[in-house]
Amino acid sequence: MAPLASAVVAVLGAASLTAAQTPNRPGSQNRYPFAKPYDQSFLEGYNVLKHAGGNVPYSNRESYGIGRDPPQGCAVDQVIMLKRHGERWPDPGPAANFKASLNKIYSSTNATAWTGALEFLNRWTYFVPDGRYIALESYNGPYAGLLDGYRHGAEYGVRYGHLWDPTAVNLTIPMFSSGYERILTTARKFGEGFFGWNYTDVVAMNIIPEQVYMGANSLTPTCLHDNQTAVCSNLTNQQPQFKVAAARLNAQNKNLQLNSTDIYNLMQMASYELNVRGYSDWVDVFSLDEWVAFGYTQDLSYYYCSGPGDKNMKAVGAVYANASLTLLNQGPDKAGALYLNFCHDTNITPVLAALGISSPAEDLPLDRIPFPNEYNSGNIVPMGGHLTIERLTCNATAISEAGTYVRLVLNEAVVPYTGCQDGPGFSCALANYTSLVSASLPDFISTCGFNSSYPQYLDFWWNYNTTRDYDVETQNPIPAGEGLLTYQGTAA
Ligand SMILES: *[C@@H]1O[C@H](CO)[C@@H](O)[C@H](O)[C@H]1NC(C)=O
Ligand SMILES: *[C@@H]1O[C@H](CO)[C@@H](O)[C@H](O)[C@H]1NC(C)=O
Ligand SMILES: *[C@@H]1O[C@H](CO)[C@@H](O)[C@H](O)[C@H]1NC(C)=O
Ligand SMILES: *[C@@H]1O[C@H](CO)[C@@H](O)[C@H](O)[C@H]1NC(C)=O
Ligand SMILES: *[C@@H]1O[C@H](CO)[C@@H](O)[C@H](O)[C@H]1NC(C)=O
Ligand SMILES: *[C@@H]1O[C@H](CO)[C@@H](O)[C@H](O)[C@H]1NC(C)=O
Ligand SMILES: *[C@@H]1O[C@H](CO)[C@@H](O)[C@H](O)[C@H]1NC(C)=O
Ligand SMILES: *[C@@H]1O[C@H](CO)[C@@H](O)[C@H](O)[C@H]1NC(C)=O
Ligand SMILES: *[C@@H]1O[C@H](CO)[C@@H](O)[C@H](O)[C@H]1NC(C)=O
Ligand SMILES: *[C@@H]1O[C@H](CO)[C@@H](O)[C@H](O)[C@H]1NC(C)=O
Ligand SMILES: *[C@@H]1O[C@H](CO)[C@@H](O)[C@H](O)[C@H]1NC(C)=O
Repeated sequence: MAPLASAVVAVLGAASLTAAQTPNRPGSQNRYPFAKPYDQSFLEGYNVLKHAGGNVPYSNRESYGIGRDPPQGCAVDQVIMLKRHGERWPDPGPAANFKASLNKIYSSTNATAWTGALEFLNRWTYFVPDGRYIALESYNGPYAGLLDGYRHGAEYGVRYGHLWDPTAVNLTIPMFSSGYERILTTARKFGEGFFGWNYTDVVAMNIIPEQVYMGANSLTPTCLHDNQTAVCSNLTNQQPQFKVAAARLNAQNKNLQLNSTDIYNLMQMASYELNVRGYSDWVDVFSLDEWVAFGYTQDLSYYYCSGPGDKNMKAVGAVYANASLTLLNQGPDKAGALYLNFCHDTNITPVLAALGISSPAEDLPLDRIPFPNEYNSGNIVPMGGHLTIERLTCNATAISEAGTYVRLVLNEAVVPYTGCQDGPGFSCALANYTSLVSASLPDFISTCGFNSSYPQYLDFWWNYNTTRDYDVETQNPIPAGEGLLTYQGTAA
């Protein structure tokens, strides 16, 4: 049967089922009319997970449609990953803001008779217990942060399991976590998912303190003299849509006097409720356009304060980008095949800036929301967000030579390197990638004001600790708001 005829049959539906069952196509009756092989329902593409910045549960980056698996004739022989912690409760600052806006609501009116969009408040309870859990990962629900780390490790264990040998004798594979409670927890969960019962046999968990004295030898480098742009220090988070929302809710409930700051707080609170409970009645209180506006405030913050809109951030990201070039060129035989690293969102955005991934051609506008928006932070650093650098060994194809290639994968979407996409699967030849990236990187030490008394390079990938002492938690989680850790995983 010609494809056109089968499409017509599918549209006609069940009455024509027998006509679709061509005996010459085994299995065809299992495919039609139950599911369309190619989904047609893209519709508007709206999803709140793409309009709340880094506050909400993980979602893959919207892809360019390049296959995630290695291109035909290629195999991954080295992986360098940088991953953010999983879904979590709010940090102390935002949590205080949530309570301030909630107190304003609860003290305004008759708490037993909420009406309009806030009717659900007659039953709703706040989800952040006093004291405990602040800043820690969530552990229940569909978007539990602890599950994110384990599941991601389990998935990468399938994808990259060929890069280690469970039958090897005395195998040590280092993993690297920046020194922060929730990040170390993520690294451990990931390791358990990836290496399974062999995790504590094999993994040497290295904790890299986040303190400034680490200089360039850090997963969380920073600048000594803060050189943020004026825009960053004056991000007011005031979108006109927030005033619309405040007026609407105030009109529905007597004495309610929410302003745009409260709307911002409540939208951020809704985002965190998704991390903890998995659902939030607050999501539907706000319109799609209001969520788009909220998401854009987050994009502005990442872009101007820890991304390409901050003059220093390319230099900050150059530390990791430059050191990963060395690993890629040493290759798996000399350097090892697996480099699994864990940090914060604002440590990933500088690396992306250094590599030119997701950087828009022009600065993000402050007076309007641009479409398309290359810097949608929901695509860049959701909870659990990660940049995966794959080194590929490839056979020759009609258009490319046999050799070593590099692909950048951001939240499971392949993002071709700007100016070098001629390799298999739109990859870049390692030699070309190396010369292009190294020529584009600013100098971290001089840009960020570190003198010679500070470590000048990222060194821990080659000088790691082989102890298994820090693979598992031996104490209760560090209390709220005090997440910084030492080399030994104790409170800094
Ligand atoms: C490359 O070609 C060799 C020889 O044909 C083959 O054995 C190998 O599997 C190929 N590699 C990949 C990744 O397809
Ligand atoms: C508060 O709500 C209750 C129940 O709906 C109602 O009986 C009462 O009149 C309300 N009081 C005020 C002051 O609005
Ligand atoms: C992994 O675990 C199995 C079963 O305990 C053990 O035989 C094997 O030696 C372990 N592999 C490594 C690399 O430790
Ligand atoms: C494995 O490592 C232990 C401790 O370092 C050592 O005593 C032992 O000889 C090693 N075994 C092999 C087969 O290398
Ligand atoms: C901060 O932003 C507001 C609103 O965009 C603007 O009116 C004000 O001039 C800005 N202040 C500075 C110091 O840039
Ligand atoms: C909204 O009200 C709070 C006090 O409830 C205040 O701190 C804040 O500055 C106000 N925001 C605006 C934009 O006026
Ligand atoms: C900020 O850093 C840039 C280089 O990235 C430099 O040109 C500029 O002078 C610095 N400004 C301040 C105020 O330090
Ligand atoms: C790498 O660079 C060389 C020299 O500029 C060029 O001929 C080649 O096509 C490039 N290869 C890829 C895969 O971009
Ligand atoms: C990159 O790292 C190499 C050593 O691995 C070092 O020689 C070089 O100076 C570094 N470049 C920058 C810009 O940090
Ligand atoms: C480096 O800078 C620190 C302050 O950041 C200062 O205490 C120290 O003396 C400086 N060392 C050198 C060698 O300049
Ligand atoms: C590894 O860390 C432990 C605990 O901090 C320390 O005693 C040991 O000397 C370290 N080993 C290396 C090789 O750095």
